[in-house]
Order: sequence, then structure tokens, then C-alpha cells
Amino acid sequence: MNGRAVEPSYGQILQLDELLQSACVHDEDVDSVLFLATHQSCEIFFAVMLRHLEAARTALDAGDGALAARRVAPLPIIVSTLVRQFDGLATLTPAAFDAIRTALGSASGFQSAQFREVEYLCGLRDTRFLNTDGFTEDDRARLRKRLEERSVQEAYHDFADDCADPAAVEQVRGALIDFDEALAMWRARHAVLAERFLGGATGTAGSDGAKYLWLAARRRVLPDVWAAAS
Ligand code: HEM
Repeated sequence: MNGRAVEPSYGQILQLDELLQSACVHDEDVDSVLFLATHQSCEIFFAVMLRHLEAARTALDAGDGALAARRVAPLPIIVSTLVRQFDGLATLTPAAFDAIRTALGSASGFQSAQFREVEYLCGLRDTRFLNTDGFTEDDRARLRKRLEERSVQEAYHDFADDCADPAAVEQVRGALIDFDEALAMWRARHAVLAERFLGGATGTAGSDGAKYLWLAARRRVLPDVWAAAS
């Protein structure tokens, strides 16, 4: 009317109709809403992590340590918000959790292909996870592609070998370690949460439950970066 082109609204830019349509927020049981929407929100942030890690790898390959560190910098903050989401799930009652667990059947976060992508892209490459029950053929293809790609820790090592400025190398290493440290805290919080609800029982994917997650908490996605001298 005023001659200006119609600009997309907030809802259109965020595709909120489509997003909220597929978000698990419609269940009558509000405990399930909390449980499922928390997982969906984690998956969105796993996708964001993958984008940032890819961008950091590109920056390292271009010899730009400052940009690589900037791409990695938000990741520990994002991971700590995901740790807080576990705190939210800890407010479920044992009965509410048991009802959700029954409804889950054999479904589990263990089947998060994006989480394995984060591990593979960084450099923690346990190929046994390719056989995870519940992965689609697309999931497996994406994971195989990640295994063929250069890992972030390989890119870091080549950058460190070629870089004449030790401070620049340390800046990148510090950012990567901050990220992996935050992930270690996420893994530990996850294990405590599983212990709270499962005690010594097995997980829905059939693992040893909290015991499995405590072992997993010792994994580092960037083992060679930790091993490198600072
Ligand atoms: C009350 C909440 C939760 C409980 C009790 C729980 C429990 C478990 C258990 C027992 C496992 C081991 C596999 C199995 O046997 O199922 C597992 C794996 C996993 N869960 Fe959760 N989980 C919870 C919430 C979440 C959330 C919110 C996420 C976010 C996406 C998540 C992501 C994962 C991932 C990525 C794995 C694989 C970890 C690995 O192999 O290192 N979980 N979970």
C-alpha cells in the first residue's frame, strides 16, 4: 500500500508455522511435551554445531586461526545450554518418566545420527556406530561421508604445523578444548540424569544405561588436540 515491498515477517523468516507443526508440542501429556521437545531442541543445536565445526575446519584449512576460533567460540556456550535442558528433564517425576519410557519402546538418543556426526566430524571415529539399529540408510550415508571427510582435529594439526605464530595456534587449541570440555560435562550430566531415572536398569536402546553413559563420558571428540602439547 505504501509502495514498499512487503517484507517477510518474523514468523515467515523463522518458518514458525512449519516448525511448530512438526514440533512435538501437541501431545496431551505435557510431560511428554517437555521430554520430546527437549530432544528436538538438542537436535537443532547439534545441527548448528555441525555447521560451526565445518566452518571452523574451512577456516583452519585457509590458515585463518582467528576465524576458526571465532567459529568454535559459541559451541561451549551452546553445549552448556543443553546441560541446563537436562536439569529441566530432571524435574519429571519417576512415574512420568516411566510412562514416557514405556511409550519410547526401543527408541533412544543413542540413535541420534547427528550426535555421531559431531563425533566423526571432530575426529572421534568409532565405526561400530554405523551399525546402530534405527539408523536410516540416509543416516548411514551421511556418517560414511563424514568418515571420508577430513576431521577438525586433522585440520587443526596441519594448521598448527604450518603456523609461525604460537599464540594463534594456542587460541585455536583453547577454543577446541573448551568445546570438548563442555561436551564432557554434557556427557556427565546425561549419565547422572540416567542414573536418577534408571538406577541400574538398561536403557531403551538396550545398553547398560547409566553405566554405559559413564563410560561414554570418558570419550573426547578431539583426542589428538588434548594430546598435543600446549
Ligand atoms: C531423562 C532423560 C534421558 C535419559 C534417562 C537418557 C538415557 C540414555 C541412555 C540410557 C542412553 C544409552 C543408550 C540406551 O540404552 O538407551 C542414552 C544415550 C544417548 N542419549 Fe540420552 N537420555 C535422556 C535424555 C537425552 C536427551 C535430551 C538427549 C538429547 C538429544 C539425549 C541424547 C542421547 C545421545 C546422543 C545418546 C548416545 C550417547 C553415546 O553413545 O555417547 N538423551 N540416553
